Amino acid sequence: VVFEDSKEASAQVAKEIADLIKVKQSQKQPCILGLATGSSPKGLYAELVRLHKEEGLSFKNVISFNLDEYYPMEPDSVNSYVRFMQEQLFNHVDILPENYYIPDGTLSKEEIRDYCDQYESKIEALGGLDLQILGIGGNGHIGFNESGSLQNSKTRLVALDHITRVAASGDFSGLENTPRTAITLGVKKIMEAKRVILLAWGERKSNIIKASVEDEVTSLVPASYLQEHRNATFILDQAAASKL
Ligand code: GLP
Repeated sequence: VVFEDSKEASAQVAKEIADLIKVKQSQKQPCILGLATGSSPKGLYAELVRLHKEEGLSFKNVISFNLDEYYPMEPDSVNSYVRFMQEQLFNHVDILPENYYIPDGTLSKEEIRDYCDQYESKIEALGGLDLQILGIGGNGHIGFNESGSLQNSKTRLVALDHITRVAASGDFSGLENTPRTAITLGVKKIMEAKRVILLAWGERKSNIIKASVEDEVTSLVPASYLQEHRNATFILDQAAASKL
């Protein structure tokens, strides 16, 4: 779906999320959200904060799982995704602190495998993700599932692509300070989400959006797997859609 601009698009997605939260509230059910970081969902989170403050949207029944975190990463570091989520959303709404999960960047290497299995088990125990929000990397990554990630890949520690590290290097004041690895939710759990919404804005995403939507499904472009999801929508602004 192509919108005039990212603001209008983000408002539409926020409305869908708000409606889902309210339906789940009326059913006395938790609403299980998969959340993303990066610049793309910032407008969405700002709109959700506005709906909370101005229209009383409550997040008390929301349980969220973030896609990824750099490894190693301290939660209070300026570049942590914990910090990002708190600043963009969690500190401004009434979500319960025990109800949001973000992969832990402080574990020892030996602990990671079990931790990742447990992260998936928690999602499964809640009946899976009701809605997964995604951005897209310039190489087609979703979460930190880089080119080559398999469709049945599990939550795991991954090596970041050079192109991903270069894109992040501005935040880390140089490539040499940019993490080489990250923990990411696997493609399998993303594909199991009942609904997936991928957000992309701007001309710089237009080539990879075309590859993801119109070219063949390939592990080289993990976002192309979404062609096989039964309820996935790419939400784009005009510039991101310009090569379609
Ligand atoms: C990072 C995140 C991804 C995100 C991507 C795109 O790699 N781990 O989840 O989709 O950046 O970022 P942006 O939205 O800033 O373009």
